[in-house]
Amino acid sequence: MKTEFFELSGDGRAEKINKAAQVIRGGGLVAFPTETVYGLGANGFDEKAVLSIFEAKGRPHDNPLIMHVADLDTAARLGYLNEPFYKLAAAYWPGPLTIIVKKRPVVNDIVTCGLDSVAIRMPSNEYASELIAAAGVPIAAPSANRSGKPSPVTARHVLEDMDGRIDMILDGGACDVGVESTVVTVCGETPTVLRPGGITPEQIKEALGSVALDKAVTQMLPEGEKPLAPGMKYKHYSPDCRVVIVEGAGAKEYIKARLAEDGRACALCFNGEEGLFARAIPYGEEGDGVSLAHGVFAAMREADGAGISTLFVRCPPKEGVGIAVYNRLFRAAAGNVVTVDR
Ligand code: TXA
Ligand code: MG
Repeated sequence: MKTEFFELSGDGRAEKINKAAQVIRGGGLVAFPTETVYGLGANGFDEKAVLSIFEAKGRPHDNPLIMHVADLDTAARLGYLNEPFYKLAAAYWPGPLTIIVKKRPVVNDIVTCGLDSVAIRMPSNEYASELIAAAGVPIAAPSANRSGKPSPVTARHVLEDMDGRIDMILDGGACDVGVESTVVTVCGETPTVLRPGGITPEQIKEALGSVALDKAVTQMLPEGEKPLAPGMKYKHYSPDCRVVIVEGAGAKEYIKARLAEDGRACALCFNGEEGLFARAIPYGEEGDGVSLAHGVFAAMREADGAGISTLFVRCPPKEGVGIAVYNRLFRAAAGNVVTVDR
């Protein structure tokens, strides 16, 4: 199939968005920008179209999709909305927050992979909300990468993974946040973050008074144990080399020494540290979770296919948006963290 590529910043924006909406309504696949990462969208009410998302990505069939909406009425059609839902939506929608509620029967099992809950998100990216509104249906969309690759934060990344596999790519420039939305469930007693993202656990606590962090966020689960978000069990976001996170006061010296031993090893470092290491890819400002979130996936893509043996990663801060960056790196590293004290 030929993949059409439309730049949205130039002329004819409304026309291009309408074309994309037609493709969605006709059962096709459109990659589109959001404030978090690029999404791969299909009509969430069209079973065949949703199935083709799984095919195009090579996505396992037990990993459910997020339904993207442009208004609260559509959210209410999809799920049984409760008080914590409305509080979170009032505080952080539109924005990088996905809320899981009990699903209504209208939501196809293909979307939820048979779960009795549905994940809903209202993106703040203007192109995304225009597309969803023009399509007139909720858009089911995972990140627009091939399964197991880092999430795409530019249209070029989408093209690398999806050219010839989908109908259309909308180029809306680089994504603001750079990591996927926070996924929070309000189905149980305590609201629980299943995947950290652009909205911090602290912010959720502010809106609801309490919040729990699912242990799959910062730990590898024992063999056989199922995480609450099925996607968290996969070794995701991973370049084609071994990834090791290095933390502690002696981290820089440790990485320097490893790179001196192995000419094919590389550092994923903070901005300005490139000169310290024989080979390095910087991914953002030290101590600044927002900056590191913005750079982490592009940096991992750069590492992919670069003939690297081991990527030694400088550890991001584990609070604020930094916890989302840590979570993605931790999973790329399959839990491999080294602590080096001086
Ligand atoms: O920022 C984002 O969320 C991006 C953009 C495109 O909106 N989308 C995204 O989708 O990251 P995806 O499919 O890559 O990740 C969705 C995550 C997965 O970990 C999935 O297992 C979880 O949400 N999820 C979806 N529905 C769920 C449900 N009903 N219960 C628990 N987890 C669910
Ligand atoms: Mg994804």
